[in-house]
Amino acid sequence: MEKRQELYAGKAKSVYTTDDPDLLVLQFRDDTSAFDGKKKEALARKGLVNNVFNAFIMERLEDAGIPTHFEKRLSSTESLVKKMEMIPVECVVRNIAAGGLVKRLGVEEGMTLTPPTFELFLKNDEKGDPMINESLAETFGWAKPEQLAKMKDLTFKVNHVLKQLFTEGGMLLVDYKLEFGIFNGQIVLGDEFSPDGCRLWDANTREKMDKDRFRQGLGGVIEAYEEVGRRIGINFPA
Ligand code: ATP
Ligand code: TYD
Repeated sequence: MEKRQELYAGKAKSVYTTDDPDLLVLQFRDDTSAFDGKKKEALARKGLVNNVFNAFIMERLEDAGIPTHFEKRLSSTESLVKKMEMIPVECVVRNIAAGGLVKRLGVEEGMTLTPPTFELFLKNDEKGDPMINESLAETFGWAKPEQLAKMKDLTFKVNHVLKQLFTEGGMLLVDYKLEFGIFNGQIVLGDEFSPDGCRLWDANTREKMDKDRFRQGLGGVIEAYEEVGRRIGINFPA
C-alpha cells in the first residue's frame, strides 16, 4: 500500500489517498481544537496516543460485530481505513449529563440519564455543528430514515461494549460522538473514538480524563488520555 496525495486536512487529522481507491490513510496530528476551532494548540504525543487508542477501540468494536472502517494501524500516527462517503450527521449518546446538555437544559452535571439519550448534530463547522433531528436530516437530504435508524442502533451497540470496557478500567463513559459513512452500500462506523470525542470520568473521584481538560484549561491533557488507555490495557509506544 502506497500513501499518495493529501485529500483533506481537518482540525485534528489529515486524510490521504492510497494506490487502492477503496482505502485511505488517516494521519492523527498533535493539533487540538475546541469551541468550533476558536481554541487551538498542538499537544505533544496527541497524534500517537489517539491513533493507538482508536485502533484498540475499533478492534474491540469489530470483535463485538460492529462494522467499522478500520483496517490496520500503519505507524505511530497513521491508520489505514476504508474510504467512505461520510454522512454529515454526528450521533451523540449521553449516559451522564455534562457539557452541552447541562448548558441547554440547565440540568445538574453528573446526573445519571435513564435511559441514555441520543442526539443528532449536523457536521458543519461554519454553522457551529447545530443540533438537528431525523425530520430535518430527511428533508434536507443529510441522511435517510433507514440510515439514521441503523446509525442509532449501532451507536447504542457501541455504548453497550464501551460502557463495560471503561467500567472495568474504573471509569465512567459520560458521553461520546460517533460518525458514520457508507461503504459498499452499508452503514459503517468511521472517523475515530478517542478521549477527544467523548467524556470519561474516574469512577471514584469523577476527575475528568478527556478533552474537557483542554476545553477547561485543566492541564495534564495527554497524561490523562494515556492513563485512560493504560487502564483499559493499551501499551503506548515510547
Ligand atoms: P471535526 O473535528 O468536527 O470532526 P474535522 O473535519 O476537522 O471535523 P478531522 O478529524 O480533523 O475532523 O478530519 C478527519 C476527517 O476525515 C473528518 O472530516 C471525517 O469525517 C473524515 N473521515 C473519517 N473517516 C473517514 C473515512 N473512512 N472515509 C472518508 N472520510 C473519513
Ligand atoms: P456536547 O456536550 O453536545 O458538546 P460540547 O462538548 O461542545 O459541550 O458533546 C457531547 C459529546 O460528544 C462530548 O463528549 C463531545 C462529543 N462531540 C464531539 O466530539 N464533536 C461534536 O461536534 C459534538 C457535537 C460532540
